[in-house]
Amino acid sequence: MTKMVGILPRMEAEKLTKKTILSGMQPTNDLTIGQYAGALRNWVELQHEYEALFCVVDLHAITVRQEPAELRKRTLDVAAMYIAAGIDPDVSTLFIQSHVPEHSQLAWVLNCMTGFGECSRMTQFKDKSATHADNVNVGLFTYPILMAADILLYNADLVPVGEDQRQHLELTRNLAERFNHHYSPTFTVPEPFIPKVGAKIMSLQEPEKKMSKSDANEKATIFLVDTDEAIRSKVKRAVTDSGTTIEYTEKRPGVANLMTLYHITTGKTYAEIEQEFSGLGYAEFKEAVGEAIVAFVRPVREKYQALRADEETLKATLRKGVEHARDRARKTLRKVYKKTGFVEF
Ligand code: TRP
Repeated sequence: MTKMVGILPRMEAEKLTKKTILSGMQPTNDLTIGQYAGALRNWVELQHEYEALFCVVDLHAITVRQEPAELRKRTLDVAAMYIAAGIDPDVSTLFIQSHVPEHSQLAWVLNCMTGFGECSRMTQFKDKSATHADNVNVGLFTYPILMAADILLYNADLVPVGEDQRQHLELTRNLAERFNHHYSPTFTVPEPFIPKVGAKIMSLQEPEKKMSKSDANEKATIFLVDTDEAIRSKVKRAVTDSGTTIEYTEKRPGVANLMTLYHITTGKTYAEIEQEFSGLGYAEFKEAVGEAIVAFVRPVREKYQALRADEETLKATLRKGVEHARDRARKTLRKVYKKTGFVEF
């Protein structure tokens, strides 16, 4: 095997030895500790085991209105945050989705193989058309098809995403199978990788609700760019309940959520946490959680700021990433075009 790797181009060699993962996030807001816990954390772990591609999905972002300068800035912000959170651009392929035109090109072919009803069933579409009732555009409707293109273009085996993306993954699998069946085997049918324990971080203000980057109440969300003071204050004001003991139970979602945050930022198990705070009250517990999050977020934020202060280097990193991504994307699209019946010169 080692000998074979030596004589094959990098891409081929990696395909032989490693499976592929791909994921992406929209550059629509600052990233939250919830996105770290639910997604980024897994990306960082998986990148060594898999051939990993991570993109910033700016094409998806314009399904809701974006201010151009803001979108441009946020796209680089998110790329920098990927790196700050532990994605190593020398190990993983990091790129901006719109830089690989094959995503849009494959999406068109897949559009023509997707039923109207399939898209209408998507719960995220229904939710977003309700929250953006003044701009229910066709892009919002076909959003999951573009996501399928992102994934199938690289023949990803595994797609680490949050639970809310399961339905989109299901559509992606159906489209892959449909194309393979209608033409001939072309796409890998991807599996979702959805973490179970300790993945879901809830709002600090309404702990029955998922923590969201777009929550109107900013006390509800911890951002990875938050200052130490902001973090301490948000945790202190986090909604708990009238209980007194630190126990992990669904009946007390506020305390359970803080325990999850403590677990994520310290690596301690729930049993260890219960033990540590037995006999202590909410005030001491919140103080410890606040400090744990501060200690965790600070190096990420500082690394992020350093990366963001040197935009040329960041762009060079993304330029390197896109070259590798395009090599792979081009190959797949060529096959797809050929099978579809487009004339090739
Ligand atoms: N729809 C995903 C989300 O909102 C983002 C996304 C776009 C994505 N393309 C993808 C995730 C491809 C994984 C793979 O979270």
